[in-house]
Parts: sequence; C-alpha cells; structure tokens
Amino acid sequence: MERNGIIQFQDIMETEHPEIILQQAQPFLELMTEYSCALMEVETKLNVLNEEFATKYKRNPFESINSRIKEPISIIEKMKRNGFPLSVESMEKNLSDIAGIRVICSFCDDIYTIAELLTRQDDILLLQTKDYIKNPKPNGYRSLHLILDIPIFLSTGKKHMKVEVQFRTIAMDFWASLEHKVKYKKDVEHSEEIVAELKECADVISQMDIQMQEIRNKIEGNM
Ligand code: GTP
Ligand code: MG
Repeated sequence: MERNGIIQFQDIMETEHPEIILQQAQPFLELMTEYSCALMEVETKLNVLNEEFATKYKRNPFESINSRIKEPISIIEKMKRNGFPLSVESMEKNLSDIAGIRVICSFCDDIYTIAELLTRQDDILLLQTKDYIKNPKPNGYRSLHLILDIPIFLSTGKKHMKVEVQFRTIAMDFWASLEHKVKYKKDVEHSEEIVAELKECADVISQMDIQMQEIRNKIEGNM
C-alpha cells in the first residue's frame, strides 16, 4: 500500500485504517513543511531588500513576489515522468522546484540587481542559473531561473533546502501566463499560428522592456 513514503490517494480512500496511512504520510508532510519554511526564509530576504530600497533609494526593486509549494500530484507525475524512485528521499534529491518563488520586477536591470544581492548573502548557495533572458527559449520565453540552497533551522538542527526562484519583468510575466494557457490547452485551434504570434509578441515585449529600461536610465541621468 505504501510506496517508500508516498501514499496513493486511492489507497487512503479504500483503507479501513486511515490513521495508519496518515502516520505513513508523516515524513512527506514534514518535508513539505520544511519546504514552506525555506520559502519563508527566501521571501523574508527579498522583503528585507525591498524595505531597504524603499527607504534608501525611494523605489521598490520588485513589484510583487509569489510563492508556491508544488502540489503532491504534480510531484508524483514529475517523478514518474523522469523515472525517479517514488520516495521522500528521492523527492529531495531529484526535484529542485518543490518550493518556488516568482519575483516580478518592472525593469530588467532590477532582476539582475536583486539576484546578485540575494545570491551574495553568505547563507545562500547558488546551485544553478538558467538565464532565459540572455538566452530566450525558442518559443520566446524569457525569465531568470535560480536554484538556491538555503538553510532552515529545526529543533533537530540545520537542514539545507532547495528553492527555485524565477525573476521576470511584468511584461514577461504577462506573456508567460498566456503562453502557459496555450501550452496546456492542446485543443486550441490554429495552434501553429498562435505559437508564431506568441513568439512575435515575446520579441516586441523584449524590445519594450529594453526601451523602458533606457528611458529610466535617462531619467536617472545614467546615460
Ligand atoms: P520543468 O520540468 O518544467 O521544471 O522544466 P526544467 O526542469 O527544464 O526547468 P526550466 O528552468 O526550464 O523551467 C522551470 C519552470 O519555468 C517551469 O516549470 C515553468 O514554470 C517555467 N517555464 C519554463 N519554460 C517555460 C515556457 O516555455 N513557458 C512558460 N509559460 N513557462 C515556462
Ligand atoms: Mg518546474
């Protein structure tokens, strides 16, 4: 019934002893709580930077931050898709996007400024960078993705957790939300045409982001 710590929903529905199942789910629930704690740590660091910028430089480096924990069903699907063993240990070892934060900025320069200020902190370790702003995906997707290692402090001691942080401009986020809808709605008619239109929009958006940045630089006398 139990597969190395991960419980099948159907098993819980069918069992006569749900309390045993819940007990078996405990390591999974504890791990998910640890990821929530890691998210809180990174969010606090970002909020501290925002507060400091607001008082020192009279501006906010980002517009909003959103965090999420990956749904159990998505975790299981991804592990199956990649052929990873279905266990709590395997989740921790093989997945780096169970805890995710999205940081939305107005300007491209702010993305690199915050990313640098965050990864420079001495308790954070940068495990991986995927810069889809400098190297956009063929479909036009742009964002900066970082995988961070951050410690959380539990009663049992220090534990290192992985957190994925995605940085985008408001315009890139607008584009990604629409593109995401198209990707997961496979039956959309004229989809090739839509893909091409989306790519065109991504290029326009990128050009606009650059121009907005240049205008800000002029206003601030940096050019
Ligand atoms: P996943 O298995 O999806 O995590 O991909 P990956 O391990 O290759 O990582 P990658 O950094 O490419 O993408 C991670 C996340 O970025 C995705 O789960 C999405 O949230 C986002 N993302 C990546 N590519 C695209 C894209 O083409 N369109 C949109 N809308 N989002 C994307
Ligand atoms: Mg992902």
